[in-house]
Amino acid sequence: MSKSQLSVKHLIGIKDLTEKDIYLIFNTAKEFKQVINRPIKKVPTLRDTTIANLFFENSTRTKLSFELAEKRLSADVINFAASSSSVKKGETLLDTVNNILAMKVDMIVMRHPSPGAPKFLSENINATIVNAGDGTHEHPTQALLDNFSIWDHFGEIKGKKIVIMGDIMHSRVAMSNFFALKKLGAEVKVSGPITLIPKYIKELGVDVELDMKKALEWCDVANILRIQLERQNIKYFPSLREYSQYFGVTREILDSLKDKKVIMHPGPINRGVEIESQVADSENSIILEQVQNGVAVRMAVLFLLANRRK
Ligand code: CP
Repeated sequence: MSKSQLSVKHLIGIKDLTEKDIYLIFNTAKEFKQVINRPIKKVPTLRDTTIANLFFENSTRTKLSFELAEKRLSADVINFAASSSSVKKGETLLDTVNNILAMKVDMIVMRHPSPGAPKFLSENINATIVNAGDGTHEHPTQALLDNFSIWDHFGEIKGKKIVIMGDIMHSRVAMSNFFALKKLGAEVKVSGPITLIPKYIKELGVDVELDMKKALEWCDVANILRIQLERQNIKYFPSLREYSQYFGVTREILDSLKDKKVIMHPGPINRGVEIESQVADSENSIILEQVQNGVAVRMAVLFLLANRRK
């Protein structure tokens, strides 16, 4: 395992990472990917580390993936779900976390609906913080696993053409992916309803292609996002039926393109809305490979951040 260190003590966002940090995470993840594909999938690396997973928002993939990554590294793990905790009785975030830390916890993995909550914690408590998604701000480990999956699939990212499609406006996954892809030298476009594309997109070095078919024809990889109805308090398009008619990726569209495209999706998938089943389950799709890579990438992040504590 490499002796190199990350430039950061916490993982709050991809914005804070250097290109060198990202490749250090990728190379470490590559080694952990071999570990988790062995008959004995565990290493004793974090045997003396206790990690608390604090989820203030729903999650399937991220929560299970972090928990598995922690267990594969032999860490002690405790899980906290806001819905069944004393947060419901009015306790502040800081009080909740300080009580957890009093039980001698070293690292906190946190998902929270408020952008900035992990950064606030990192400035106010003495533990390593890993952002597992904060509102519409960032979801750094999702972008790392998405970018690792592209790197692993093609052998490089520099010069690759990636289109991110769908609800860009409400997506922390899109935001973290923009930062990672641009740092690694990819060309990035977005596509989707104009009402769901933020006005500042060009300032991030990202181009817009409103014609979905043209965007698909241009790209090597399409990363398709779901519509985040839970974050929309006004209507950005008439109905899900019309959304799927104009922006849903279908087998028929993929078959009409000149080249074969790689299809990604961070999940959860809404089949028949942004993606047809014949696309999600096709040979073009690396969606489940992304999920597998997520465990290795999160093992790498936890291992490298734990090294920063020594
Ligand atoms: N991709 C993702 O963050 O999924 P979950 O919401 O299930 O964790």
